[in-house]
Formats: sequence, structure tokens, C-alpha cells
Amino acid sequence: MVNRTLWSGRFNRDLDNSTLEFTSSLDVDTALSFYDVMGSLAHVNMLRKCKIIPDKDADVITSGLRSIAAQIESGEFKVDRSLEDIHTNIEFKLTDIVGSVGGKLHTGRSRNDQVVTDFKMYLRDAVLDVVSSIDRLINALIEIARSENIIIPGLTHTQHAQPVTVAQHALAHIFKLERDASRFLEAFDRMNYCPLGSAALAGTTYPIDREMVAEALGFKAPTQNSMDSVSDRDFATELAFCSSLTAIHLSSMAEELIIWSSQEFNFVEIDDMYTTGSSIMPQKKNPDIAELIRGKTGNIVGNLVTMLVMTKGLPLTYNRDLQEDKAPVMLSLDSLRKCLMMMCKIVSTLKFNENVIANKVTLGFINATDLADYLATRGLTFRDAHGVVGAVVRYCIEKNKNFGDLSLDELKKFSELFYDDVYNYISMESCVERRNSSGGTSSQSTEIQLEHVVQSYVRRKDKIMRESNIINTCWSRLVS
Ligand code: ARG
Repeated sequence: MVNRTLWSGRFNRDLDNSTLEFTSSLDVDTALSFYDVMGSLAHVNMLRKCKIIPDKDADVITSGLRSIAAQIESGEFKVDRSLEDIHTNIEFKLTDIVGSVGGKLHTGRSRNDQVVTDFKMYLRDAVLDVVSSIDRLINALIEIARSENIIIPGLTHTQHAQPVTVAQHALAHIFKLERDASRFLEAFDRMNYCPLGSAALAGTTYPIDREMVAEALGFKAPTQNSMDSVSDRDFATELAFCSSLTAIHLSSMAEELIIWSSQEFNFVEIDDMYTTGSSIMPQKKNPDIAELIRGKTGNIVGNLVTMLVMTKGLPLTYNRDLQEDKAPVMLSLDSLRKCLMMMCKIVSTLKFNENVIANKVTLGFINATDLADYLATRGLTFRDAHGVVGAVVRYCIEKNKNFGDLSLDELKKFSELFYDDVYNYISMESCVERRNSSGGTSSQSTEIQLEHVVQSYVRRKDKIMRESNIINTCWSRLVS
């Protein structure tokens, strides 16, 4: 096979086929093809405006690129596997269509700035997509927080701690996801600068207009240092991190669902559609989807480590190692999007077993803090009250009783400060409603939290809409 490259001039011999196979990035960068053509369209418009190439050449190149864009859109574009990467494919395709004038397209740029520009454009779309998926899950959790008026055991160390509401619990997950969404959008803003025109590493001698290209591709501005531009993969690492933390949050949620749906807890039932059976044990209904979400977190975190280790110790500027940057981030975002989608489906169809929960929540002296608070509000120091209630707990364990089963006489043996109103004071509802401090589990507090998360959800939706509009307007301008 005769190998075609963009750089064969100084070589006497063709590439060995194994070299070609080893160095090819087509498996991964074919996903960049649309963005590569958009970048080239913006670049050729600029070469024309800056009078670097004549109008008639720019016309020919533009129409050739547009027909490639159409082929990519329709799925007709054939990737030639004997070429090194997608950028080479598109440039050769262009010269196949328009002839040798296509060779003027690469004036004033290099694949080094081209690759990183394409990757950023791909990732911008992927980020907006992933944030929308996070928001769909947030929305499903908001529904639960609004509709499930249930008190559940709040745990620390996986032990009964204090009663909380399902709303408070769902909101806790929502706030984590809200930070994930805003972390992604901040990373989006940070990476939204255009490297094109940095050329190989040092800029170019042609009188190019980088502002024009940045604007045409929907970037905020051009990047500021050519050497930084072609070596920078911070944005990719950052997104690998954003993906990891979101996946870790999903993994915690998945773990809870797995425990909550076990025989031992039996708090929730995951819908049949999102569980699987066993080939040997007919009774089984397994939470495999949640387990896979937990499991896939391993890959996603691994991809972050790949990025960190791959870029560690690279000298400036472009080094071929950087070609390995795409797969980990693309795979992480893709896997995360699927995990978010499945989690959203599980959450939207989750059934709470209210009776089981109502029985379990009274166990484990979960209102012991409130019993101590009762004594403290009647004059005992909290420390002494803590000691008294500890003794009551020990007594209850011996007698196999709950606080509510104790008579007032029994209670008075521990402290004269106990009165009739203690039973109401330590009811689960009172325990929850009295936690009315800002951020607490009372219904008033969860109302305030809900208002906040709904507002920030709306703000994110606006931002996503704004950014997608900017991007899509650019694409339609470039192809028509
Ligand atoms: N396939 C390469 C990549 O994705 C293209 C950049 C090539 N640049 C170079 N100097 N060899 O990184």
C-alpha cells in the first residue's frame, strides 16, 4: 500500500503499515469531522478577508468544504483508513473535489492548532448535553422532593441518627448535582477561547485575523499565547474531573438505591424495567442498573487519571502524546450521559414503601437527640441531658422497649423534668418540623431549598439555550 500523508516531502521511504496503524487516530477523531470542516470554513473566510488567498480560490475551497459538510451530515462521507487522521482525510477529500487549490487551505495554520480547536468545539456541545442530562435528573429529584411526604431515618455511619424527610434527602442529592452542573458550565466558559491561528507553536507570518475566526466559531475570543494554545489540555482534564465527581455522586445515589431496595431495608422498589433477574434463582430482582452506574464510575475516574498522567512532564508544546487526549474525555462524557439517563429513569419510577419506612423510622432511638433537647429546654445542661437520655436508652434496650412505650412514671425515674408533653415532643413529625434552622429538614426549610434549586435550574436552562444558539448560528452562517 502507498501511504499518503500531509508531510511526505522530506522522506525517502513510505511509512511501514504498522507505523501507520500505530499512529492513526481515526478510531477516535472521526467524531471531530463536522467540527473540523467548520473550523476550515471559518479559516478560509478569514484568509479571503485578509487577502492571504484570492477570492476565487476561497470560493472554490468554500464550496468544496460545504459539500464535505453535507456528506458528513448525511452519513455519506467515507473515511479513508489508510490516512493518518480525520484532518488529513478532510484535506485530501477537499483536493479530490476541488483540485490542487485545496492545498491553500492550510496556509497560516497547523494541525496542532487545528486539532485542539476541533476538540474544544466537540467538547462544548458535549458539555451542554451533559448539563442538560444532569438537569433532567435534578428535575426528577425535584418531583420526588415535592411529592413524597415521608419521614425516613437519617443516617450517619449507616446508623439511625435523626429523622429526616425524603424531600430533605432528595434535595441533598440535588445540591451535589447542582454543583456538578455549574462546575461543567464554568469549565465551558474557561475553555471557550479559540486556539486557531496559533499555528504549529509560534504563531504565523501571515497577516491573519484571529478575532474573526474566533467569532465565526462561536468562541468568546482567541487564546492569548500560541505555545500555551497548542499544548493546553487543561480543559480536557478539567472535564474528565467534572465527569468523575458527577459519576461519584451518581455512584453514591446508586449505592443508596441498592441498599434501600434490599430485603433488609425494603424502603423502595425499583421499577421492573430497570432491574434484572437471575438465571438460576427465580425469586431474584437485582438492582443491576444501579450497580452498573456504580461500576462505570471506575472507568470514568480512571480516565481522569489517564489525562493527568499523560500530560504530566510534557515539555512545551505539541507532543504526539497529546493525541491520546480524546478517547478518555469522550468516553467519560459519553458514559456519564448514559449513567445520568438511567439514573433519571430509575428515580422517576421509584416507589417508596411507606409502611415499611414508617415502622423502621421509629427504631434505633432515632429521636434520642430530641429527648435530650426536651430536658435541655427545661433547664438541664445539654451535656447532663445527654447523660440522662443515654441511661434511658440503656434501660429501653434491657426492657426491649422504645421511648414511646415508657410510662411517665418510668421516665420520671430518670428525671423529674419529664412531663406529659414529652410524647408529642419526640414524635417523628415534631422532630422533623422543629429542625427549622436554615437548611434544616423542616417543611418550611425544604420549601425554601426547593425554590432555590428551581431558580438555578431555570438559569442553567437559559445559559444552555444561549450557548447553543450562538453555536448553531455560527454553523448555519458557515454553511450558507
Ligand atoms: N492526529 C494528531 C492528533 O490528534 C494530529 C496532530 C498532528 N500534529 C503533529 N505535529 N503530528 O494529535
